[in-house]
Formats: sequence, C-alpha cells, structure tokens
Amino acid sequence: MARRNKIAVVGAGNIGGNIGLLCAERRLGDVVLYDIPQVEGPVKGKALDINQLNAVRGLDSRLVGTSNFADCAGADVVIVTAGRPRKPGMSRDDLIATNVEIIKNVAENVKQHTPDAFVIVISNPLDAMVYALHKIAGLKDNMVAGMAGVLDSARFRFFVSEALDVSIDDVNAMVLGGHGDDMVPLTRLCNVGGVPLESLLPADKLAAIVERTRKGGGELVSLYGTGSAYFAPAESAVAMAESFLLDRKRVMPVAARLHGEYGIDGFFFGVPARLGKGGVEKVYEIALEADEKAMLDKSFEAVKSTVAACNI
Ligand code: NAI
Ligand code: 2OP
Repeated sequence: MARRNKIAVVGAGNIGGNIGLLCAERRLGDVVLYDIPQVEGPVKGKALDINQLNAVRGLDSRLVGTSNFADCAGADVVIVTAGRPRKPGMSRDDLIATNVEIIKNVAENVKQHTPDAFVIVISNPLDAMVYALHKIAGLKDNMVAGMAGVLDSARFRFFVSEALDVSIDDVNAMVLGGHGDDMVPLTRLCNVGGVPLESLLPADKLAAIVERTRKGGGELVSLYGTGSAYFAPAESAVAMAESFLLDRKRVMPVAARLHGEYGIDGFFFGVPARLGKGGVEKVYEIALEADEKAMLDKSFEAVKSTVAACNI
C-alpha cells in the first residue's frame, strides 16, 4: 500500500518548527519533530499546535514531537537544524566547538536510525557541519547536501528586485561557494527576465548588493538580537526536500560533495546541482573567468580551515 512521505526534522527550534509548518502546507508528508529531552514538552507542543493549524486549513499532514530518535526511523528525508544559532557579534565559525559536538551526536543517530534517508544539513558553520555529518554517519555522497546557496541566492534576488522594482520571479541569480563572508554571487550570470543584470545596475550599486548579500545572515542576527534568520532558511531547506521527494529535478545551489569539480575533491561546497529521487544527481561545472575562480578559491580556503578546526 502506498504510504505518505515521512520527513524528520532534527532540532525543532526556530527553523525546525517552521519546516514542520511548511512541509504540512506543501502537503509533502508526515513530519517528526525531534529534539533533545530537555525541550520535549515544547516540541510536543509545537507538533500539536501545527496539527491543530492543519485542522483549520484542511491539511492531512500529521506531526509528532519526540525526543526519541527511533521515531525518525523510515524517514525519506532528514533535515538537520540541530545546533546553536549566532548571537550579535559572533561569526558562524564561533559556533564550531559547540555545534560539532551536537552534529557528532546527530550523526550517530542518523547512522543508527535513518541511514537511507536524504539528509539536508542547515546547522552552522554549514560547510563544515555537512562535512562532519557525512563523514561520521558514513552516508553515500549523493544522499547528503547542505542548505546555504538557496538562501544566499534568495537574499541576492530580493535585493535586486527591490533595487530595480521588478518581480522577484524574474530575477535569476546564483550564489556559490561557502556559506560565509567570502561567498560568491556570480553577477555575470545573473539576469532579469533574460536581460543581463550587469547591464541594468551601475557597478557601484551591484557591488553594494553583493556586499549586503555576503553579510545577509549578520544583518538578520543584528536585527533579531537573540538568534539568526529562520523563515527564509526553513523555506530554502523545504524547497530542497520537495525537489527530492517529488523528483522535481530542480537545479539549485547546494553544498554538495565534490569529486574534482571546480578543482575541489572530498569537500562539501556550494555549487549548482540537480536534486531528484537520486538525491544530488548531478553537479554542474561552470566555466569561470579568472576573477570568479579567484573568489571561489578564496571561499574554499575559508571552508577548508573551518573543516580543519573541527578536528574530525
Ligand atoms: P534554535 O536554537 O532555535 O534551534 C536549534 C535546536 O537544536 C534547539 O531546539 C536545540 O534544542 C536543538 N538541539 C541541540 N542539540 C541537539 C541534538 N543533539 N539533537 C537534536 N537537536 C538538538 O536555532 P535555529 O535558529 O533554528 O538555527 C539552527 C541552526 O541553523 C544554527 O546552527 C544556525 O546557525 C543555523 N542556520 C543556518 C543557516 C544556513 O543557511 N545554513 C541559516 C540560518 C541558521
Ligand atoms: C544565515 O545566513 C546565520 O547562517 C545564518 O542567516
């Protein structure tokens, strides 16, 4: 008998709770919200609250809140948000020591209970946490991806749509590289309804948008004051999960494990990739100009040093 998709969300805080809500709204399947025993009550409450929202909306997804990872068994997708968010004044790398221990714990649980799921990692510092989880859980290369590029590209697209007063739908843009201040918005390849972006905005305005995108996470951290962005990050991960579950084969910028593409081997790095039933089915390599390659190399050096600092 056909069964509904099952989505496990590991870490049911700000991003995790919103992922539960968005999966229900998109009718993607049933959702397990898992978190540590210390917050079992609030997590059960979040699941019950969303089930009652679903009743108002006529949505059939069922949510369960739990602190028993075994309840995630059989999940088609696991979305990992477990870990501390940034506070004002902190960089993503300031989270390494705390979050690597959390990811080790999550990886052992994934290995034991959900070894065949497609795993999407959100926890920061993203490029190192996805590397750690893949290595410790011993997952297949195509069945793990990090979420950052979808969010960073969305930020860039929003800033462009505001600057030009055009529909967000027509702004096509791609931000590649690591999820840090050295990320690489490829402005040469961006367009608005097919019109090259570089012909629409003066160089200084475009440079300001690139800079604001690179610091986009920090801007939200300063405004919130207590943590980092959560609505757009949740939606970005759910878009990736949807492409896998529905075999949509969308081409999105994701942190994928590379095997020599862009001169990188054995690391996760933000590149355009096709997501479908086979997980990360294909990585697309773009012919880069010298200055773009230099920016990507700089971003990769930052990722490598963060991975090294994890000692895994
Ligand atoms: P949050 O603090 O609201 O939620 C994190 C949850 O993880 C908490 O409920 C906590 O109890 C849980 N947790 C801690 N240890 C755990 C474990 N061993 N197993 C399962 N759950 C555990 O934080 P928020 O805002 O949801 O952010 C989560 C992470 O996502 C942070 O590391 C943040 O920096 C990162 N982030 C990444 C983005 C990206 O683009 N990749 C964008 C925004 C945030
Ligand atoms: C973000 O980009 C802080 O990584 C987090 O919003």
